[in-house]
Amino acid sequence: MKKLIVLTGSGISAESGLKTFRETGGLWETYDVMEVASYDGWERNQNLVLQFYNERRAQLKDAQPNAGHTGLVELEQYFDVQIITQNVDNLHERAGSKKVLHLHGELTKVRSTGDPFLVYDIGYKSIKAGDTCKKGFQLRPHIVWFGEAVPAIAEAAEISAQADIYAVIGTSLAVYPAAGLVDYVPQTVPVFVIDPNDISFPGYRNFEFIKEKAGRGVAILKDRLIQQFK
Ligand code: OAD
Repeated sequence: MKKLIVLTGSGISAESGLKTFRETGGLWETYDVMEVASYDGWERNQNLVLQFYNERRAQLKDAQPNAGHTGLVELEQYFDVQIITQNVDNLHERAGSKKVLHLHGELTKVRSTGDPFLVYDIGYKSIKAGDTCKKGFQLRPHIVWFGEAVPAIAEAAEISAQADIYAVIGTSLAVYPAAGLVDYVPQTVPVFVIDPNDISFPGYRNFEFIKEKAGRGVAILKDRLIQQFK
């Protein structure tokens, strides 16, 4: 089976009712990103950061995967699909995608501030100041904040380098190192981009633009890939 690698961002979850980050009305318009998604912000005000992610977790509980997520699951019948997502939601997994690599962490997990390997699955529950790991350290969201390392990036680069077909769905490609993953995709590999808005894509790179929301865009992509590559 050909390897179809799919890099997703918050746009794929927009039709599930979850906000994107940089659009008008996006999360970073309502919240100061450096206050809720950076280590400095965490040091300044743990309660604010915990509350921000508690709210995101509660919202995720009520959200459902949309046609974009389920369309990618259907593609598993024809291709060896590997998803690399910048999203911290679990909608790819809940739709049934088998291989999902999270670059920016996961909302349903928390970890110890004293031992990064102590990670706990908390589902949709809230955490508060004073909630600690078994060693007594405060728990924090299992999220990659601005200025922090992205531990999964090397694996994501390796996966991207092995693609037979590459798709980029619902991301402005504004945040590195995730945005740089496209550079690892060999020039001979066809790249498809799904987004209802124009995005800034590396100029040297040919790609086919499906200017649609993810739900409809993935359906179009599916037809096209089956026609072209099966
Ligand atoms: P952005 O908000 O930067 O970009 C969202 C993209 O989704 C835009 O290009 C939109 O045009 C597109 N979009 C909107 N609605 C869509 C739909 N229905 N279907 C498909 N696409 C749609 O969000 P990301 O690129 O995901 O990191 O942002 C990357 C990272 O920045 C996030 O993972 C997050 C953020 O700061 C962390 O929090 C660590």
